[in-house]
Amino acid sequence: MRRIAILTAGGDTPALNATIFGAVERANQLKIEIVGIVRGFAGILEPQLPHVRLNPLFTSIPELDPCMGGTLLGASRTYIDPDQTAVIADVKSRLQRLQIEGLVCVGGDGTLNGMQPLSDLFPCVLAPKTIDNDLGLNYIDEPNEITEDEISQSGKGFGGRVSRESIELEEIINYATPGYATAVFVVVQGVERIRTTAESHRRIAIIEVMGRDSGFIALGSAYGQPDIILIPEVPLDMERLEQRVAELYELQKHVVIVVGEGVCDQSGRQLGAITRSYDPAGNIIFNGAAEELKRLLCVRFGDQFFSSRRKNESADSAIFTRKVGHTQRGGFPIKFDRYHAAQLGGKAVDLIVEGRNNAMATLQYSRESGFTLGSLAANKLRDRFGKIHPRQVHSSFYEKLRFQPSRLGKEYLRSVLTNALGSEDVEQMRATMFNPGKLATRFQSVCIDMNRRIELLK
Ligand code: F6P
Repeated sequence: MRRIAILTAGGDTPALNATIFGAVERANQLKIEIVGIVRGFAGILEPQLPHVRLNPLFTSIPELDPCMGGTLLGASRTYIDPDQTAVIADVKSRLQRLQIEGLVCVGGDGTLNGMQPLSDLFPCVLAPKTIDNDLGLNYIDEPNEITEDEISQSGKGFGGRVSRESIELEEIINYATPGYATAVFVVVQGVERIRTTAESHRRIAIIEVMGRDSGFIALGSAYGQPDIILIPEVPLDMERLEQRVAELYELQKHVVIVVGEGVCDQSGRQLGAITRSYDPAGNIIFNGAAEELKRLLCVRFGDQFFSSRRKNESADSAIFTRKVGHTQRGGFPIKFDRYHAAQLGGKAVDLIVEGRNNAMATLQYSRESGFTLGSLAANKLRDRFGKIHPRQVHSSFYEKLRFQPSRLGKEYLRSVLTNALGSEDVEQMRATMFNPGKLATRFQSVCIDMNRRIELLK
């Protein structure tokens, strides 16, 4: 194999450059040229196929920095439509004109779907990424257990179903995805900072975190010690929530609630998707779970609850909401993500070289050996109707009466996060945060340097 390509698709994560770096370093070792396609599937669909040589003379270009967040190649949420066979054939012929023999796609479930039609014509492998930590399975048979009814609930995963009451951590397929640990790192800091202000002003803080239908980021927020964690997998029990909030407010005069953006009510209605809109990949755009939760709590408690305790306090002023937002997806990747992303990038190149197609590199965990690399045929993630579902937090990871991770949930978090932050991460913050040089120069975007490197197919 002489030349392969790589692209980054879907929402970005802080670890994408680390994955590309791992892939390029492995390609250097194997003396394979590696070409980066600009802006994911959007680039591959362009007749001129904008691309960048990432390892001229088998040396990584200096712009490729595994410690930088985002992706120097750019990403997009454009996907390949499997029904457009002529378009897919054009993509194949463009890649062949560039003498590309295999394609590594760095992405999540949407990317895997986008890659599928292409893999019918061309060798493709996925290196996983997503802050949502939802690309994988709780156990290998999970997709086979889904029923026709459940499939019609688009976007929903498996975890809320009590198909199996317990799982072993060793059974999890693709244990953690690059980007997740950094997202949790950001969320935990946010929760800790909001705590002290809620505490000072005796308020109820509702903090909304990302993750779509999966509550892994919300679960990880446990390190910030929020009083209540609400995950999308468990329908909201408003009675119990009201009771717990009242108990905590009496006890400590403030409450911190973390809510996963995809949280549902008892009827399965997603609180944050009231105005349903769709991005080009067909994903629901979540917007406003925290606001809706605030509205529900305001109705339940009413002004009286607060004004009877403190003069001039209304429910509206006592309860406030904050979204951690895109800070979860940006900035430098912490050590766990950097290291495993790079490893997975290298593994994806190995899979392509081994002749695998429509497969993905995975990160596996065992209590005995820790983290190891693995691989999976992408179709193993599909249910019998061909759909890939987001992995959800398994019911055994969460105690719904206490709104906290269960014992197993905590063990899962410990295995990923205990050593996730490196001393170099802390040192990097110390050295760069208030570097006076920043006041003397403008931000230097990698896009400027990369633009100079972009080549087009003639
Ligand atoms: O899938 C990653 C993710 O960050 C989700 O957690 C979130 O709902 C979504 O993407 C936000 O997407 P965008 O920034 O493209 O609107």
